[in-house]
Amino acid sequence: MRIRLDKYLADLGIESRSGVKNLLKKGRVRLNGAVQTRPETKVDTDADRICLDGKVLTYHDYEYFMLNKPAGVVSASRDPHSSTVLDLIGGKTRKDLFPVGRLDRDTVGLLLITNDGSLAHSLLAPGRHVEKVYRVLLDGAADSADQEAFCEGIDIGDDTPTRPAVLEIPDGSRPEEVLVRIHEGRYHQIKRMFAARGKQVLWLKRLSMGSLVLDGSLGEGESRRLTGEEIEDLKGTGRRGSPPG
Ligand code: URA
Repeated sequence: MRIRLDKYLADLGIESRSGVKNLLKKGRVRLNGAVQTRPETKVDTDADRICLDGKVLTYHDYEYFMLNKPAGVVSASRDPHSSTVLDLIGGKTRKDLFPVGRLDRDTVGLLLITNDGSLAHSLLAPGRHVEKVYRVLLDGAADSADQEAFCEGIDIGDDTPTRPAVLEIPDGSRPEEVLVRIHEGRYHQIKRMFAARGKQVLWLKRLSMGSLVLDGSLGEGESRRLTGEEIEDLKGTGRRGSPPG
């Protein structure tokens, strides 16, 4: 892709567009080895070598990371009082990253972080019904009546009941340790669904979102870039959505 040099630098969050002009004026930017001072110079984001103060820059139009979110961190790009999920992403170059959807502060697990607004929109759009799977620890045993209620949809105090969801009690696990599949993303949804059944969620972890599955090798607080295949699959998920469970 060919773009202006000042846009290239501003996209990477190095400075605002006007701050970038100053950097250029001061001769701190080199294009293929030669000092370049003109902001309007066109650069090839794939082929040209651009250095700031001697350090080679890498341009990414879009970046995609999966984070294994730990408890105690806010799912936001900025927060005046608390550290955010973005503070945990190492090696990022774009400064316009944001989390796709939110997990509660005490929820752990899969969070997609990107600056691809159109993918985020397609994954979050209410009509898409992208499936999210959670592992849940409850303060009491889930039973077949809970499973039926999840399947039918639950009144959690909103205008409409929840869409049909799946509550699984995996073979060999205790009935307090369950899996839940939902196809929407209402505020505190899982906690409110169980609260409506008289049960409290003690621990909640997201395992997947559409085709994207949390990498089991990531410890809490760790992240990695998505592979090309994961990105392509996720774009497919966003377009197709998932059938309601
Ligand atoms: N449901 C919840 O209650 N909390 C989350 O963080 C995600 C889903």
